[in-house]
Amino acid sequence: MSDPFDLAAHIRTIADYPKPGIEFRDITTLLADAEAFRQSVDRLVAPLAGADVVKVAGIEARGFILGGAMAHQLGAGFVPIRKAGKLPHATVRVAYSLEYGLDEMEMHRDSIEPGERVLLTDDLIATGGTAEAAVTLLRQLGAEIVAACFVIDLPDLGGRQRLEALGVEVRTLVSFSGH
Ligand code: PRP
Ligand code: MG
Repeated sequence: MSDPFDLAAHIRTIADYPKPGIEFRDITTLLADAEAFRQSVDRLVAPLAGADVVKVAGIEARGFILGGAMAHQLGAGFVPIRKAGKLPHATVRVAYSLEYGLDEMEMHRDSIEPGERVLLTDDLIATGGTAEAAVTLLRQLGAEIVAACFVIDLPDLGGRQRLEALGVEVRTLVSFSGH
């Protein structure tokens, strides 16, 4: 059966952004559409309704938008995974490589209690480097990662397999191949 609501049609593709050769998948068009935003959040959280998620951890910055809505829907708290230097209290920090550059991310040390069931989210998984760094931080804090959820998967870049090799269940809604 065909998809009754075409989420992919609400994602805009920008050629050569932020660098030549990169096709940027822009979810601002999806977020701006009430039905597309609702459907995205509903589809990501639906299988997790009985999963006792205590916190949703969202990766800066688009993971905040999705993660806040998902946390609200699941009756969970929200914790931010931020670019280094943005969080005011004691943090754990990890360096990671992006599809196009290097970065560091941080979490507050007291944002997760050991053993808490946490759902990780971001807008997109490509190489999985960003999500793997987030998994490193979450596990350092003792989180039990229930799953990692993304609106977009770029399967040619292998991020899903990279997370699954770490024992993390991956859920995505839209795939763009031939990246
Ligand atoms: C994008 C996307 C993910 C990351 C995925 O972020 O929002 O966070 O790339 O790539 P990976 O799986 O290869 O690590 P981007 O690099 O555009 O940074 P931004 O979210 O800060 O804009
Ligand atoms: Mg990002």
